[in-house]
Amino acid sequence: MNFKLITLALVLALFLTSCGDSKKKETPTKTVTKTEVKKETPKKEVASSKTDLNAPTLDNKGIGPIKNVKIGAIDAKMVAKGKELFKTNCTACHKIKKRYIGPGLKDITKRRSPEWIMNMILNSTEMLEKDPVAKALIAEYNAPMAQQQISKEECRAILEYLRTK
Ligand code: HEC
Repeated sequence: MNFKLITLALVLALFLTSCGDSKKKETPTKTVTKTEVKKETPKKEVASSKTDLNAPTLDNKGIGPIKNVKIGAIDAKMVAKGKELFKTNCTACHKIKKRYIGPGLKDITKRRSPEWIMNMILNSTEMLEKDPVAKALIAEYNAPMAQQQISKEECRAILEYLRTK
């Protein structure tokens, strides 16, 4: 009898402990750290379709009667003559430092070849039709540069004057 009771008690005890031992499953709260780094796609620099009108184009000799111009030390006499011719023929549309009807002509001889400048003056109609630089210029200035009724020598003197600006 006693023995039966003891076994019963033991069985009970075992049963109880196994039940009470039900493991509390500790589910660790997952702390999800989102490491979603947005990759910034660098914006591609869109090359502007606009031509830089101040970029030097010294290889371009333009189109017209002037094929080769010899440039030497500044000829003061020619400069004086060119200055007067510039006043009478060009100042209606050009200033030196500022944009006016046409571009400011400061440093023009550093941007354009002597031949291109003289062809632009003596043959502007064809230049504005065919030369890529002249075409870009008229697209910006929207006014055709009037072809100048001056001689090659006068034109050369104006070029000399512009070399000093
Ligand atoms: C009726 C106005 C007008 C007159 C006069 C004129 N120009 Fe122009 N010139 C322009 C315009 C406008 C442009 C820009 C191109 C275009 O739109 O035809 C230009 C462009 C030029 C350019 C090119 C400038 C650059 O940035 O490449 C030169 C050089 C130039 N002119 C020189 C002269 C000279 C020198 C004279 C005088 C002999 C003269 N121009 C007379 C209007 C004129």
